[in-house]
Amino acid sequence: MVLPARKTAISLRNNSPSFTDKVTGENIELAAREIQKPGTVVAFPTETVYGLGGSALCDESVRAIYTAKNRPADNPLIVHVSSIEQVERLILTKLHRIPQVYDKLVAKFWPGPLTILLPIEEGSPILPLVTAGQNTVGVRMPDHPVARALIALSDTPLAAPSANASTRPSPTLADHVLHDLEGKIPYILDGGGCSVGVESSVVDGLATPPMLLRPGGVTAEQLSKYGGAPWQDVVVGKRDADNSEQVRTPGMKYRHYSPTAKVALFVNCGDGKKAVSTFLKSTTAAKVALFRSTQFAASQEMGVPACDYELGATPAAMAESLFRLLRQADDDGVDLILVEGVEETGDGLAVMNRLHKAAYTVIDGLGDATS
Ligand code: TXA
Ligand code: MG
Repeated sequence: MVLPARKTAISLRNNSPSFTDKVTGENIELAAREIQKPGTVVAFPTETVYGLGGSALCDESVRAIYTAKNRPADNPLIVHVSSIEQVERLILTKLHRIPQVYDKLVAKFWPGPLTILLPIEEGSPILPLVTAGQNTVGVRMPDHPVARALIALSDTPLAAPSANASTRPSPTLADHVLHDLEGKIPYILDGGGCSVGVESSVVDGLATPPMLLRPGGVTAEQLSKYGGAPWQDVVVGKRDADNSEQVRTPGMKYRHYSPTAKVALFVNCGDGKKAVSTFLKSTTAAKVALFRSTQFAASQEMGVPACDYELGATPAAMAESLFRLLRQADDDGVDLILVEGVEETGDGLAVMNRLHKAAYTVIDGLGDATS
């Protein structure tokens, strides 16, 4: 069931929500009651992507998440809170304090698209199924009134991966969730489009030096600028974990973000004219989409048969539109998507991370194609 929830109708004071619109209030209250029942999951909007939430303290609920998504159980889930007080009371039941290394980042970026790894204490209420047996748990406070109100009212830390079927692009609209999970989950809170469009940045401040395990809504530059001394040396995790090394973020070893259409990523290709027409000569795709940003010429100008999709003129705009357009291309019956890459700085790092994972081939204007 899709439950409309208007984010502009919600205000939160001292982690206590109030609603100016009756339907929004009733729907979030219903979802908050349901999500506390063992085995019940609810999809909800965040500022990054839609999440599929269940109680991080209940085995049946966490199992229901993995089952609905068809997700391998060795890929840990992020736990969502609506206040720091909840972290201290419900997650860090012994320490009662978030490690100091995160103080400045939490002050600057919470609520927001930043997930921090916290230690799993002895006797931790967070289930091993949530952490995939690791000795850390990823925690974040989303910056979306619907998510915050749901978590505040249920007073439950919510384990929530992105609400897509495993391997599909993450959902940035309630419709995307419905498309992937209809019939598999009872409720979807529809709070409109997600403004960030890529997932949160996952950081490990317990390691020395600290690591950015997954680039996302907070950039590496922002971590260094605002995190304080330890974060000056933040190490950006490798894009693809190679099979021989221990995988720090298990999510990195799986196929991800894949539309049905094949994705070819172009980097260092200028206006794209030469690289795109050469590449198209070697393919037999019937329907081709061209995802343009700022440098690529329109397909007509290139003289190639393709439909143009505007990704956006800045990396942040590209992040906001990317997953939506990948799904749109599928709906439009596209077989092959040609994407103009961007520089891997600022928000470009997260965008390129997702594009590299979605792509079956990368055409580098400065070198050879790699698969
Ligand atoms: O923006 C987001 O983070 C969204 C919304 C719903 O909050 N959630 C999300 O969850 O993207 P998911 O499950 O699709 O991705 C979680 C990522 C995975 O790559 C996982 O391996 C990593 O976070 N992760 C979670 N807990 C971890 C841990 N304890 N150690 C290392 N990596 C962890
Ligand atoms: Mg995901």
